[in-house]
Amino acid sequence: MSGGNREFHLQPADRVHGRITVPGDKSISHRAVMFGALARGTTRVSGFLPGADTLATAQILRDLGVAIERTGETDLLIEGVGLHGLRGAAHPLDCGNAGTAMRLLAGLLAGQRFASTLVGDESLSRRPMRRVMDPLRLMGARIASTEAGTAPLLIEPSDGLRGIDYTCPVASAQIKSCVLLAGLYASGETAVTEPAATRDYTERMLAALGADVVVEGLTVRLRPGRELAAQPIAVPGDFSSAAFFLVAGAIARSGEVVIENVGLNPRRTGLLDTLLDMGADIEILDRRDIAGEPVGNLRVRPSSLRAVDVPLARVPDMIDEFPAFAIAAACAAGTSRVRGAHELRVKESDRIAAMARGLAAIGVDVEEFEDGMAIEGREQLGGGRIDSRGDHRIAMSFAVASLRAREAIRIDDCANVDTSFPGFATLASRIGLGIRVRDGEAQA
Ligand code: S3P
Repeated sequence: MSGGNREFHLQPADRVHGRITVPGDKSISHRAVMFGALARGTTRVSGFLPGADTLATAQILRDLGVAIERTGETDLLIEGVGLHGLRGAAHPLDCGNAGTAMRLLAGLLAGQRFASTLVGDESLSRRPMRRVMDPLRLMGARIASTEAGTAPLLIEPSDGLRGIDYTCPVASAQIKSCVLLAGLYASGETAVTEPAATRDYTERMLAALGADVVVEGLTVRLRPGRELAAQPIAVPGDFSSAAFFLVAGAIARSGEVVIENVGLNPRRTGLLDTLLDMGADIEILDRRDIAGEPVGNLRVRPSSLRAVDVPLARVPDMIDEFPAFAIAAACAAGTSRVRGAHELRVKESDRIAAMARGLAAIGVDVEEFEDGMAIEGREQLGGGRIDSRGDHRIAMSFAVASLRAREAIRIDDCANVDTSFPGFATLASRIGLGIRVRDGEAQA
């Protein structure tokens, strides 16, 4: 999806109010499809994210011979084929905008007896893939990319993968998951050690399906040989989608927002801790456990935010939330700083550059560092025109900024909001944002 021709137009508003739910967790939805496909038996998935990213993963598994039926808007029935039941596709497998799909599937496909090609859209085709190719090659995989180390990825059947003991150079759940998925097809144990803990859905879900997975501190060990047994998967709401409304509720002048059924895995909720450090009025209501994942309702009310230095150790736990955080920081008293977040440069866009440019366009003083930024908060933001660079999270963050803007904000290139948050504009408008979506003519 290029997304070049969808615009968000925002009129200033200052109140958000209502009870909402956000779509299902993207990370868990991708994994539900992949692991359900590899399991023996039928997997029922509820709360699945019907976004372009996760639908791309579902289509790829269909292309690989798995029957996946959409039984409702957010419900899937997956007829698992077992670890060795996939069959090769005659055409390239299209991951669209989804880095998680490409990196995890690279691991899964490296262990198959057929060849595959993984392709992606313009943004995904710029993102670094050596980080998964390097460990896969150490395992004996035959995988090739462009000279720049980017997609398309060509994966040939190998002579058999070997388990490795791999230390990830960057904290990345996608690298960890890729290696573990290849490890399902390797001889001997595969161990992955991370420099800092990242989201742990792969290890938790594989263990729940019966894989031999052990976690020791920052190391995950997987021993191959066991089949996976299908289990129902209930996907909670995505904290990363809730994040936009947490910030909206915190910077608004009045109202109260309750976001129901949000996944609260501690590897995801760094923004919650940061907003609380900034003085946000957020409460977790009805905290509960669903299939081993912590879930709760989040209630947020407006408050005066103070600037914060994001602790280095917290960066991985809020890695997808820096665009939303930047808007909160732009409305906080004082100068907030983020360092140690170089990974933001290789997300769906260069998020440091995209946020710095966008904030400057609405009158905020920003200093950009190679690995972060300093943001000087203001009582009021200006209006202006923002280039989201086709990045869903940049687009949604600047929509929220309209709650403190003096004038209208126009955001370009917003179609990719559908990759993670279909229905965002409708929900945002329902709680009070002055948002209109304009689908322009396709640009030549
Ligand atoms: C994800 C891991 C993170 C995150 C992405 C989803 C996952 O990426 O940014 O949105 O589901 O494993 P990295 O592993 O590149 O940090």
